[in-house]
Amino acid sequence: MERVYDIAVMPGDFIGKEVTPEAEKVLDASASKHGFEIRKTNYPHGGEHYIETGKLLTDAEIRELRDHHAILFGAVGHPDLQKGEVERGILLKMRFDLDQYVNLRPSKLYNGVDAPIRKIHPDLEDGSELIVVREGTAGLYKGNGGVERDSDGNVTRAWEVMDYTREEVDRVCKYAFELAENKGLPITLAFKSNVLTNVSANLWQPRFEWMAEQFPGVSANYKHIDALNGPLLISNSPKDLGVIVTGNMFGDIITDLTASLYGGMGVGSSGCINPGGTSMFEPLHGSSPKDYGNGTVSPIAAILSTGLMLEHLGEVDAAKGIETAVERVLASGKIPNMTTNSGVPTKRQTEMILEELVA
Ligand code: IPM
Ligand code: MN
Repeated sequence: MERVYDIAVMPGDFIGKEVTPEAEKVLDASASKHGFEIRKTNYPHGGEHYIETGKLLTDAEIRELRDHHAILFGAVGHPDLQKGEVERGILLKMRFDLDQYVNLRPSKLYNGVDAPIRKIHPDLEDGSELIVVREGTAGLYKGNGGVERDSDGNVTRAWEVMDYTREEVDRVCKYAFELAENKGLPITLAFKSNVLTNVSANLWQPRFEWMAEQFPGVSANYKHIDALNGPLLISNSPKDLGVIVTGNMFGDIITDLTASLYGGMGVGSSGCINPGGTSMFEPLHGSSPKDYGNGTVSPIAAILSTGLMLEHLGEVDAAKGIETAVERVLASGKIPNMTTNSGVPTKRQTEMILEELVA
């Protein structure tokens, strides 16, 4: 059977435009090595495109995206625009309209990476994983909110509602349990049952416990999100947490922390996944205008996200190949850190990965 994949490529803004072409090089090399074909459609969407054309992402374009096997995304965000305009009109629109309800954010301890988590847990072995499964389309992100104003038009009250249906909770918990089972990891629900009596204590926690009964082989635990974020990551080994499943906003907050603890935003990869639809893969970092144009940002998060994409498409050997190549380059110590000041040009970092990939 022909293995041909239609991939939508949307680099977005600033460093998104620098790292995405690097990820594409790795994708192309991987395709020719493993005998599958990648057909790309380019989408210019982002803050800059919006400023130039007034266009965000249309419903017609969403329909086009549905006909792709996956989306490779960079980052959107522009300092000349109102906060959130392109984030909502492009990135969140894709997550919502394509129903990408799993936001998969894995962290792995790579040999050779000076990860802060090593100082907290010196016994943590290279290769050990902490995976966050963040709910991706509901909760506080549903945009269910409003404001009240006084007679002068000043806002006097404002609210955003954390809203989940049982189906929304069940489907993401099921994905997380399957992942934990496949990886042989424990699973932790991180929520806030001591305060959020409705959403956490009456819905997430009971549904998580019900799901745990369907997966008797997976060790399942509940932790309050605040305790997990602080004391637990320090006093408990991340190995005991395994797969963390959590709500949309809590997951947003803790994944900047987990990525930073495991080496920096430069290694944080992610997938916005609809297991039955079109999924999108993106580095965790944003468009970072201040770092644009120096030619030294890390392409590794974008490259690892491409690996996640291939794994999702069933190209498991190619995905493994990308991760192994990245692992070898990092282990060589030739890229001293994942920041924008590693001193190693972005393109050179990709070349080193490509050399390992074809070796
Ligand atoms: C992320 C980002 C987005 C989010 C923003 C850009 C809308 O912070 O992917 O974590 O909040 O989900
Ligand atoms: Mn975020």
